Amino acid sequence: MRLLFIGDVVGSLGRNTITEYLPRLKKKYHPQLTIVNGENAASGRGITEKIYKKFLQDGVDVVTLGNHTWDNRDIFEFIGDAKKMIRPANFPAGTPGQGIVFIKINELELAVINLQGRVFMNDLDDPFRKADELVAEARKRTEYIFIDFHGETTSEKQAMGWYLDGQVSAVVGTHTHVQTNDARILPKGTAYLTDVGMTGPYDGILGMKRGPVIEKFMTALPKRFEVVEEGRFVLSGCVIDLDKDGRAKKIENILINEDHPFRE
Ligand SMILES: [Fe+2]
Repeated sequence: MRLLFIGDVVGSLGRNTITEYLPRLKKKYHPQLTIVNGENAASGRGITEKIYKKFLQDGVDVVTLGNHTWDNRDIFEFIGDAKKMIRPANFPAGTPGQGIVFIKINELELAVINLQGRVFMNDLDDPFRKADELVAEARKRTEYIFIDFHGETTSEKQAMGWYLDGQVSAVVGTHTHVQTNDARILPKGTAYLTDVGMTGPYDGILGMKRGPVIEKFMTALPKRFEVVEEGRFVLSGCVIDLDKDGRAKKIENILINEDHPFRE
């Protein structure tokens, strides 16, 4: 089984990059399933129903989210019906939406789980204990389990990777928007990447216009951040190959921008 995962789509530039490049990536890599983190897809903050539907139309199979899940009030109107979208599973019990989804791929099934870290982020339920619970639930049905761990610190993400080694097919980090160069297969067969990186503006600061971000650092005053809507793009992702027992065989990063041009 081959999975394609594309990291944090930021704003219209990110969405247009998905529309243009997903077909080309599919042609090149032939993934059975494509997962996209869409928590910054609506002007950098959250997702709307229209954007969710456009992702599916563009060929995305599962959309994952993160700390920006609730930034658009629209989310509460459609999250209950968005069967292919998951938000971090360790939000408190009773939170709308789902944190795990099962997707059929011929006779096989892949469980996709979304979790969020707690270091320098909101104080959610323990993602490690939530992972135990959901992995046990998933393993009753399938050995193919993919986790998007949305976290701020490399240490918390590495800890999750090692904690789940041998229990899941892959643990891939999102949220920090800069791709890390540490894609590997852990000893018991879990593919791991600390952060897959972002898809959207190449010349912003994590996708935002540079001016206000620099001013905020220099003045410590509140500033309004706006997403970069035009200019050069970056696409960040990874491709993961899984064996018959759900273990990972290979993980390869994808980085496309003007400094790393796409090769068909
Ligand atoms: Fe995030």
